[in-house]
Amino acid sequence: MKITLSIIKADVGSIGGHIRPSDEMLKAVEQHIKTKGKDKGLIIDYYIGYTGDDISILTTHKKGVGNSTIHKLCYEAFLKATKVAKEQGLYGAGQDLLVEAFSGNVKGMGPQVAEMEIEERPAEPFLMFMADKTEPGAFNLPLYLSFADPMHCAGLLLSPKLKKGFKFVIMDVNYTQADRIIELVTPEEIYDIAVLLRDTGRFVVESIWSRVTGEQIVAASTTRLHNIAGKYVGKDDPVMLVRTQKDFPATGEILSPFTIGHLVAGFMRGSHNGPLMPVRKNSPTSFFDGPPIVSCLAFSVKNGKLTKPADCFDHPYWDYVRNKIAQKAEEIRKQGFVGPAMLPMSELEYTGVTETLKELEKKFKIRKK
Ligand code: 13P
Ligand code: 13P
Ligand code: MG
Ligand code: MG
Repeated sequence: MKITLSIIKADVGSIGGHIRPSDEMLKAVEQHIKTKGKDKGLIIDYYIGYTGDDISILTTHKKGVGNSTIHKLCYEAFLKATKVAKEQGLYGAGQDLLVEAFSGNVKGMGPQVAEMEIEERPAEPFLMFMADKTEPGAFNLPLYLSFADPMHCAGLLLSPKLKKGFKFVIMDVNYTQADRIIELVTPEEIYDIAVLLRDTGRFVVESIWSRVTGEQIVAASTTRLHNIAGKYVGKDDPVMLVRTQKDFPATGEILSPFTIGHLVAGFMRGSHNGPLMPVRKNSPTSFFDGPPIVSCLAFSVKNGKLTKPADCFDHPYWDYVRNKIAQKAEEIRKQGFVGPAMLPMSELEYTGVTETLKELEKKFKIRKK
């Protein structure tokens, strides 16, 4: 059976700063998706959760990707949650909804989107990633390692089908007039892929496809609010869907790179680098508005009906990883605003530094010889 998996995610307000949405907001989203979506037969099933201050709506349906009915359903759920957030005096109410009226597709309107239409396999396991206090490029390294490096994906050696490689579709997110993409394949072009993926602020993995079966395996969100709004409106906390097992990497091979806690852009005021910490579902943020966090829920789906999620990072192994990453966060924070701790000028989400520099320029003097 052909079904579509859609995640639409937005930050529309949060308790006590940028920590987490309120239960009342989540209830409003759930109520809307249930009564206007599931009960009316628009969607087959749904799951609603949060990571940090971002609410994600996962739906299954038969309408394909970029469908305006599905996008509108979710956008309106976020408008309802915004109303609740305003009533409760929450911070950043409606933060990610850049426009009041919905028009066609939430892409470019603020929320993050990751969707794929799939032919359901007899057993269809997939993962839902949600990150907060970071940007879409945060998934570049983990995806590269899971799909192109046998140090993380043993299947590249053990499975003849995985060995045939994958197609990466990578987007240039600085180009805002339209989608500017490139397609590169593993294993032949892994160095070209690496050259692009190193630049996480500009090149972002949009999707990954099997070269053996032609099936889509990964759909990741690529929206950069910074580029849409032209000013700071929050980081572009990304979401991602990854199908696993059989002809695709195993769930554990997709999780493996998250042991690294690699440094990503985001953290306090979206203007710092910090290590990406894997957390349990529905985790808030904390230290220095971070560290950047990522959750991962595993689902199985049959005829569009979802199981309850299994929480991938809720395991003693990841407690050990979290401790290590907390130390890494502490180390880079010791460096405050200097060097790689704070983002370069082009990525700074606030105007304070540029404005101050402008003033200071006037005070500079050239010393006479
Ligand atoms: P099982 O033998 O438990 O099914 O595991 C197979 C597998 O792919 C593990 O990554
Ligand atoms: P969010 O992008 O998660 O709203 O965080 C913004 C921020 O400024 C955190 O310090
Ligand atoms: Mg926020
Ligand atoms: Mg957020």
